[in-house]
Amino acid sequence: MGELKIGIMGAMSEEIEGILELIDSVEEIKIGNRIYFEGKINEIKVVLVFSRWGKVAASSTVSALIHHFGVNQILFTGVAGAIMNDLEIGDIIIGKRYIQHDLDARPLMKQFEIPLLGKTFIEADQQLLQTIEKAVCNFSIHLKNKQVISDDILSKFNIESPRILIGDIASGDQFFSSIEQKNQLSSLLPTILCVEMEGAAVAQVCFENGIPFCIIRTISDTADHDAHIDFPKFLKEVSGKFSSGIIKEYFKLIGK
Ligand code: ADE
Repeated sequence: MGELKIGIMGAMSEEIEGILELIDSVEEIKIGNRIYFEGKINEIKVVLVFSRWGKVAASSTVSALIHHFGVNQILFTGVAGAIMNDLEIGDIIIGKRYIQHDLDARPLMKQFEIPLLGKTFIEADQQLLQTIEKAVCNFSIHLKNKQVISDDILSKFNIESPRILIGDIASGDQFFSSIEQKNQLSSLLPTILCVEMEGAAVAQVCFENGIPFCIIRTISDTADHDAHIDFPKFLKEVSGKFSSGIIKEYFKLIGK
């Protein structure tokens, strides 16, 4: 691999605003309805982009990062709905494996299998995942020391001491907002921690192009009947600070 050039994606504009502040000498490039922000963080080349929502939006955006901008590593930060029962708002999930929960080409192949790849789960890069885990732990220390978000906001969301978990993430073109949806997913795929709408698509594109990637998700809602209330509030007040805080710690670890 040549010089490191990292693509950073977020599915919400709120999530990338804070990250943009970390980038030096920013240049804006417009392609296919997206603005790509190219520059450096701690002397490392980066391209930041708001991917928009859903698997198609994320796949086309990550393809441009790889083929147009030549990035050789992808990070995705964002929010997710909790599927595992005891997860709480503010907990951070680092994806180890990704699956598309709405992919179903039965009876041609088994449920969830990606056609022609013969795989159902795609794994994050192990080494990158370990570094991201360190960055997330460092971020959570700052969070506990009240250096990131005010006490008022943390208590409004009942965020005390967020947990950091590494595990399986499911993605699909659906916003989960009922217990029935959650239960159905858990019964089919019992190892899933959380659900979102882009990660597994990004994982597939990265896998097919041999690009190491890692996806970090903060729990914004419990993916049940309250999801549509918790989700926008969390996005506005918390998620951007989590995303930019984690990215900042990552570049402190790898920066020149
Ligand atoms: N991203 C954040 N919350 C979500 C939910 N409840 N369903 C799908 N994607 C999400």
